[in-house]
Amino acid sequence: MTYDLVLAVLVILSIHFVYSVQQDAYSLLFTDNKDVFLNKPIHFQYPLPKWLRGSLVRTGPAMFGMGKRNFTHAFDGFGKIYNWKFYGNGSTSFSQDFLRSETYNVSGEIKDIANFLTFESVSPPFPLDRREISVLNGFDNTNVNVYRLFNQEKESYEYITLTDAWKVYQFEPTSINTIGEIDPPNPRGTYIGFIDTMSSAHPVPEHNSSYHFTFLTSVSLIPKVKSRLSVIRMKSAFDRELVAQWEVDKAPYMHSFSVTPRYVILFAAAYYTNIGKMLKYANAYEGLEWFPSEKATIYVVEIKTGNVHTIQTENGFPSHHVNAYEDNNKIIMDVTMFQDPAYSKIYELETLRSPTKRQNAQYTPSEIKRYSINLNATNVTVSTFSPNSIFPFINNFDFPCINEMYRHRKYCYIYGVATKRNNKLFSSTALVKKDVCGTNQDSAFALDNHYPVDMWFIPIPNSTREDDGILLTPVLDGDKRQSYLLMLDANTMAPINRAYLPSLVPFTMHGRFFSDLI
Ligand SMILES: *[C@@H]1O[C@H](CO)[C@@H](O)[C@H](O)[C@H]1NC(C)=O
Ligand SMILES: *[C@@H]1O[C@H](CO)[C@@H](O)[C@H](O)[C@H]1NC(C)=O
Ligand SMILES: *[C@@H]1O[C@H](CO)[C@@H](O)[C@H](O)[C@H]1NC(C)=O
Ligand SMILES: *[C@@H]1O[C@H](CO)[C@@H](O)[C@H](O)[C@H]1NC(C)=O
Ligand SMILES: *[C@@H]1O[C@H](CO)[C@@H](O)[C@H](O)[C@H]1NC(C)=O
Ligand SMILES: *[C@@H]1O[C@H](CO)[C@@H](O)[C@H](O)[C@H]1NC(C)=O
Ligand SMILES: *[C@@H]1O[C@H](CO)[C@@H](O)[C@H](O)[C@H]1NC(C)=O
Ligand SMILES: [Fe+2]
Repeated sequence: MTYDLVLAVLVILSIHFVYSVQQDAYSLLFTDNKDVFLNKPIHFQYPLPKWLRGSLVRTGPAMFGMGKRNFTHAFDGFGKIYNWKFYGNGSTSFSQDFLRSETYNVSGEIKDIANFLTFESVSPPFPLDRREISVLNGFDNTNVNVYRLFNQEKESYEYITLTDAWKVYQFEPTSINTIGEIDPPNPRGTYIGFIDTMSSAHPVPEHNSSYHFTFLTSVSLIPKVKSRLSVIRMKSAFDRELVAQWEVDKAPYMHSFSVTPRYVILFAAAYYTNIGKMLKYANAYEGLEWFPSEKATIYVVEIKTGNVHTIQTENGFPSHHVNAYEDNNKIIMDVTMFQDPAYSKIYELETLRSPTKRQNAQYTPSEIKRYSINLNATNVTVSTFSPNSIFPFINNFDFPCINEMYRHRKYCYIYGVATKRNNKLFSSTALVKKDVCGTNQDSAFALDNHYPVDMWFIPIPNSTREDDGILLTPVLDGDKRQSYLLMLDANTMAPINRAYLPSLVPFTMHGRFFSDLI
């Protein structure tokens, strides 16, 4: 090689180096990825366990605008569905496609964002005459969670995607075909003057049953007629049954809730729908009002009778209910709590795409809290968990998951995502294992410039330890600017295997592993 050539190579290398240091990798999680394909083989570094058979299905936003308009908030991006198949013979594949929702289809046709309710505003904003229609059309982009419900009559599973809405979309998970929208008949009856669209993206299984529970928030449009809350049993993707309904002074916004063998528990922060503002701004964030000095209300609903007990407690914004169980006449309920709902501003695209804004944003991470509800006295005590000097962020996580075999009962381990590990920069991410039994099993895993999301726990068959299992999460490798699927040992939080993916996976919200689905 001549001296000049060596110099040229060095110059190119250093330009490349400066370029890759300057380019913020985290923002790739919030950049459109329009790739669509089925069953591309992927390869793990090490052989996979023979028992691992099934599909990890996840969803999240993957396209952040259409034609002449953009979303401003990450949660509004058009939903995509991802499927990682483990064939049980050592082979794996990866598939992805957009959810072909009405908003996806219509937006594509009109080269603009269609008129549906969004989480935050769009840019440029919708013209005034299109806003009320957007609110009445409700949420359509079900990009938050995937679930399957067992249909006893058909003796088969039905797969759905959800957001915090009554409406869901059914899809076929192996081909990732959108089957269609399901707007189940409202089991509380048809009443005029209510908007019955707000529900939960996190149904919870009923104990000893193939059914699930959800709630419905019915916002009254008629002055002096009260809004209502209902607890509802999901018997299949199509069939709903009323468990309880009651009046509330103001209609709260909730994302998730808890279930024990005998109770469904809702935590309603003082965060209420303001229908006038909702119609004016056509987005959930500006249509909801936070009352910092008011109390929150816990509703304890007896599943058998539909009786509702009401308990007041200190305010705070619950993000995700983790698990709940009964202990004598107490309910123990663990929830990831934010100080207030303004935390969600951190997910504005402008902030997420700028390291400076991520660093300067006013953002206090969520904290895991335990609510002990004393049913005899109908009061509640709130407690926090002991800190850990090795992992100072150990109690400040969200996106919790557990070993599902321990749902509804006493359990010890929560796996979650800490988003401000260095206490400076939102996006300095760590995966945590929180021991809520206080037996010194806290643990965590993090790699600089690697960005994992919400995990899913898969138990090792026939194991007896709660943490005998693996965790799966897609990770963005910021150095390589590529995504991989990471496998962790849930016992130690040590990374044990990974497979780089043929396409970069933007931020995904939630997902589940469905065993035997391939
Ligand atoms: C939408 O966002 C993209 C990517 O940030 C940008 O290039 C485009 O100009 C934006 N369009 C509008 C209408 O704001
Ligand atoms: C595993 O099964 C899948 C689906 O039947 C097949 O495509 C793949 O080739 C098999 N792999 C091996 C190693 O046999
Ligand atoms: C959207 O269009 C696709 C065809 O491109 C169709 O299969 C799908 O059912 C449509 N979705 C809705 C909700 O109508
Ligand atoms: C749930 O089922 C288990 C075993 O099938 C049984 O022992 C238990 O009593 C049941 N619990 C309730 C609350 O029905
Ligand atoms: C609640 O009352 C029941 C009997 O009515 C009693 O067995 C139980 O110990 C009480 N629990 C608490 C937490 O006070
Ligand atoms: C709840 O009620 C029980 C029984 O009356 C009482 O012992 C306990 O102190 C109360 N706790 C709170 C936080 O008020
Ligand atoms: C788990 O136990 C069942 C029943 O005892 C047995 O059939 C199965 O092979 C076991 N699975 C594994 C992976 O050991
Ligand atoms: Fe969620």
